[in-house]
Amino acid sequence: AKDRPFTAAVITMSDKGSKGERKDESGPAMKEGLTAAGFDVVEELILPDEKALLKKELIRLCDQRQVSLILTSGGTGFSERDTTPEATMEVMTRNAPGIAEAIRAESMKYTKRAMLSRGASVIRGQTLIVNLPGSPKAVRESMEIILESVQHGLGILR
Ligand code: MTE
Repeated sequence: AKDRPFTAAVITMSDKGSKGERKDESGPAMKEGLTAAGFDVVEELILPDEKALLKKELIRLCDQRQVSLILTSGGTGFSERDTTPEATMEVMTRNAPGIAEAIRAESMKYTKRAMLSRGASVIRGQTLIVNLPGSPKAVRESMEIILESVQHGLGILR
């Protein structure tokens, strides 16, 4: 039914976070923003920056769990270990580049380094996947930019 809340999963991509060497603040920031917007956040993961591992979890969350939205945080920059956009692009069935474009464009108001995020936004089946930058600040700013339009899009996708 159209009145049930959208389901979502959040994934923090961080070598240090996945080993418990760094407290994950971006996962909770994604969950908080989504919950405030009315989403039902059904999974919260912290993964090391491994492309194969992220692809496997994205495919499971889309094909088995069938969540409406997956937000990832981190791994979008220029470091050699930053492979979140590649994992995301490799599981897509359709590209939805406007969401990533909007995050970069609007984020330029906050920091010119916004242009360094390579984040992607794609559709796999009936799930939308959006890559956010890694810092909790970037996560909050990005969600403010996209969430209302994302909800409109999800209504058309399901
Ligand atoms: N976008 C917003 N809205 N706010 C930010 O603080 N930080 C930028 C950019 N995008 C930032 C942002 C910086 S400094 C980098 S290096 C890139 O995101 C990539 O971040 P990541 O490697 O953590 O994914």
